[in-house]
Amino acid sequence: MARGDHHRNVCIIHVSAHGTNPASAAMCGMKIITVGTDSKGNINIEEVRKAAEANKEYLSAHMVTYPSTHGVYEEGIDEICKIIHDNGGEVYMDGANMNAQESQSYPIKEASIIFQFSSGA
Ligand SMILES: Cc1ncc(COP(=O)(O)O)c(C=O)c1O
Repeated sequence: MARGDHHRNVCIIHVSAHGTNPASAAMCGMKIITVGTDSKGNINIEEVRKAAEANKEYLSAHMVTYPSTHGVYEEGIDEICKIIHDNGGEVYMDGANMNAQESQSYPIKEASIIFQFSSGA
């Protein structure tokens, strides 16, 4: 918004995300593009890259859950954030796992921009 990118309406969300993620993005009028997981259940980084590059002009955000819903601090999180930032988007972190975030000093080098605090956190 601060950059005047009011046209950006694409939100990338992984299939393993909590259902409230796509639901809230849809309520905000965003177009949701889902990305899959790899054989270990982590976010498929190549799918993120393809989705981000294919939607570079309209990419608004990637909603991530970190640590992931299956309880893992995904090693690819820095790369995922960089891909999103390189393609004009921001990273929105699901705050449901804030307690786990608090136990880490500052785990993500490519810092997220937005962090929502969940009622259950
Ligand atoms: C990863 C994740 N995101 C979002 C939610 C939704 O949280 P709330 O009901 O507090 O909005 C949950 C709830 O369990 C969750 O586990």
